[in-house]
Amino acid sequence: MRGNMKTLILNGSPRNNGDTSALLSAFTTALSGECMIIDCYSADIAPCIDCRACRSALACPKQDDMQAVYEYLHGCDAVVIASPVHYAELSSGLLTAAGRFQLYSSAMIFRHERPFVKPKKGAVLLAQGGSGGAQRAFETAKLIFDSIGVKQVFSPVISQKTDRLSAADDIEALTAAAELARLISSD
Ligand SMILES: Cc1cc2nc3c(=O)[nH]c(=O)nc-3n(C[C@H](O)[C@H](O)[C@H](O)COP(=O)(O)O)c2cc1C
Repeated sequence: MRGNMKTLILNGSPRNNGDTSALLSAFTTALSGECMIIDCYSADIAPCIDCRACRSALACPKQDDMQAVYEYLHGCDAVVIASPVHYAELSSGLLTAAGRFQLYSSAMIFRHERPFVKPKKGAVLLAQGGSGGAQRAFETAKLIFDSIGVKQVFSPVISQKTDRLSAADDIEALTAAAELARLISSD
């Protein structure tokens, strides 16, 4: 276990004590080291407006909570994308925050830079009311990981059918979330 490990967690649920929060709680309890949790719906995060300033420099001119995320991201070892499934996708709040990672894609595409030297690990936690359609959300999470230097992505933990059993009572998913945290914490 790595006690000095740093993990960035993007929480894409609009509900404070909802299903995604339950999964995250099980995850963070078993996680080693420190973490920064960004609540995408309550944080001050403007959408990327494709202003293209990042085509010439590794920076985003929008001064909001994403600036602290950029700073943490550069030194962290792992990133977690946690989200409810909305219309078979990651939530709009999560996608808004992730859109602001465009500066890293710009660095790679237009200046052929590698903004992240140290490879990161990635974990995905999803909650969904139904039983199908989480695959698209996971594929999008992997695209996001591609842009922020995440090289090792573990299988997602998904709490399904939360309309019948809330994630807080989904022992299998909670156990899997804790196990994923231990996995991501190991060297
Ligand atoms: C706008 C919206 C769209 C949704 N779309 C889907 C969907 O496509 N598939 C699905 O299985 N559940 C869908 N759901 C249900 C949520 O994924 C489910 O209630 C989830 O457990 C909520 O997690 P939370 O409490 O962390 O927000 C949707 C819910 C909302 C509010």
